[in-house]
Amino acid sequence: MFPESGDTFNFFLPPYVVFGRGARATIPGYAKRLGLSRVLLVLDPFFVETADCAALHKGLEDSNIEATAWSGVVPNPEDVGVDEATRLYRENGCEGVICIGGGSAMDTGKSVGVMIASGAEQIREHMPPASRPLNGMAPVICAPTTAGTGAEVNPYSMVVDTVTGQKKIGYLAHELLSAQKVAVVDPDLTMSMSPRLTAVTGLDAFCHAVECYLTKKPNPISDDLAFRAISLVADNLRRAVYNGQDVKARVNMSLAATLATAAFPNAGLLYPHGLSGLGDKYPVPHGVQVGSVLVAALEAVLPFRTERLARVAEAFGIPRRGRSPREAAKAAIEAIHQLLVDIDFPTLSQATGATLENIEQVLDAMTAGKLSNWPLADQERIRAIAKRSLEL
Ligand SMILES: [Fe+2]
Repeated sequence: MFPESGDTFNFFLPPYVVFGRGARATIPGYAKRLGLSRVLLVLDPFFVETADCAALHKGLEDSNIEATAWSGVVPNPEDVGVDEATRLYRENGCEGVICIGGGSAMDTGKSVGVMIASGAEQIREHMPPASRPLNGMAPVICAPTTAGTGAEVNPYSMVVDTVTGQKKIGYLAHELLSAQKVAVVDPDLTMSMSPRLTAVTGLDAFCHAVECYLTKKPNPISDDLAFRAISLVADNLRRAVYNGQDVKARVNMSLAATLATAAFPNAGLLYPHGLSGLGDKYPVPHGVQVGSVLVAALEAVLPFRTERLARVAEAFGIPRRGRSPREAAKAAIEAIHQLLVDIDFPTLSQATGATLENIEQVLDAMTAGKLSNWPLADQERIRAIAKRSLEL
């Protein structure tokens, strides 16, 4: 599913996307169209008490769809939670999943869909070293309440292995995981996000976009989607953080997250996500992990992604005229740094408490484990990025 080399590329398009304010009202209708009469609702705990949740229940009832709700979603979903939700699905004879919440809720719901299709008793059966093959996915409808992770359209699921304690990023990485039938992206569902959550999830979306734009294997479609997402974040993230009720900013951030996630599984990501292994030692939200090393990562790629970074400057409204490509690229990095400062985004040391002394051990562990297959130059660059991030 990923481009290999040369001028050819493959492009996997994400599932049917229903985008727009009020789109949440269509969820029962899509469940009906999928022929579902009993569904498992996988809900973020905060959502359970909302008027939107009551409306969802009413809509399902009106459509003669029985719903069993499970709201044990935790940040960075755990294998045991996925297993529990799957048991509930089976006990109640459900025929599909509707998941509403952030990335954790959607990853949980998608993982349930995988287990239902395969017959697995534990999600660990699909995780290395077991790696039971995926052979389908129960119908899953995803509706995000954040604008960042893109789990509603991406072909991945992250689940914490509670036995080893490792966060298995992408342990489920297969186009089947994107075939969850319908992604309902309703920006209204993101309006209640706090400034902090808006910033953190927004940075995840931005990292997806900018990493994809600077990746080693871009393609024409990923480029256009990623660049548009960069521009949308540049114009709207501050506004969404400063005023959560800014409808236009919310809509544009939801659009940015969707576009970025349509792009990156087809072209790849770069270093901020390459450093997400730091989260094993410093368990902070994913968006914080990637956002707090972004500036140093861009500094590191500047010498060999100069022209592309110079184009990113344009997305931030920085004129090219009178600037060399290198100057424009540096201006882009400065603009991104300023964005982080303006939205009060935590630095790596603020977020994790990491120091130059103790991060060395973490990087050693990453090099021996997750990064062992990476080229040496990348491994060295990642070390340098982590250390530089502690200075910013
Ligand atoms: Fe991410």
